[in-house]
Amino acid sequence: MNSRVSPPQYQLPAGYDAVAFERIDSTNEEAKRRAGVTPGPTWFIAECQSAGRGRRGRVWVSEPGNLYASLLLRPGGSAGAAALLAFAAALAVADAVEEVTGVTRKLGCKWPNDVLYGGRKISGILLESSSDKAGALDWLVIGVGINLAHFPPNTDYPATSVAAEGFPGVTTAVLFSALARWLDRWLETWRHAGFAPIREAWLARATGLGKPIVARTGSDEIAGLFRGLGGDGALLIERADGSVNQILAGDIFPAMDDC
Ligand code: BTN
Repeated sequence: MNSRVSPPQYQLPAGYDAVAFERIDSTNEEAKRRAGVTPGPTWFIAECQSAGRGRRGRVWVSEPGNLYASLLLRPGGSAGAAALLAFAAALAVADAVEEVTGVTRKLGCKWPNDVLYGGRKISGILLESSSDKAGALDWLVIGVGINLAHFPPNTDYPATSVAAEGFPGVTTAVLFSALARWLDRWLETWRHAGFAPIREAWLARATGLGKPIVARTGSDEIAGLFRGLGGDGALLIERADGSVNQILAGDIFPAMDDC
């Protein structure tokens, strides 16, 4: 059963609304349910989720204590272009965690949508959208999970949380307010300058650039050097024969321990 609560003291940038829940199936799901009746940018935030979703059909374990929030917005343009906002969201998460911890140089971005702290996953991002038959975007949902109080054990990629890194006093309200503000700033950058500055900032935070990686796409694995990000958000990976592959969906892992 979804239970709505009065929003706590979130500080939102001008023009945004927030709807808060004690418990919900998934904030992304709620944002999608409300897409037909919610005109402006609206955050859906929950203390826990009973059916939190991750990328590629994975479960996102959503016990109380972590941050679960989804932004519903209508950025216009095509679904393909809006998908690039995942990189803006990753930058916003990194900036927000940096702000609330005061720690710099530990936050990194891992293709496509993860944020790492000291090389461990601290946040995941799930974008969902709907377009009309001509491909014009109707709405976009940017779902963000940040490990604040705890993190799942035994994950494919090692994880961590804000508390485990030495900051147990950071509240969801403080972290969410910082996230909402930073994401608004990156969305402004997008509106005024497009993807180029976002791509540049993301590359400046990218982990493992130039290093050996393995990209998993479904049942395939491609090994090579991480050569960067295409203008369409594709991962660029250089094979042993010097050819460069572009990968649009998948997961990457360091091929050696130094990544
Ligand atoms: C991933 O790394 O696989 C993406 C995880 C995204 C999780 C967030 S939590 C808030 C929003 N609601 C969901 O059900 N998923 C996203």
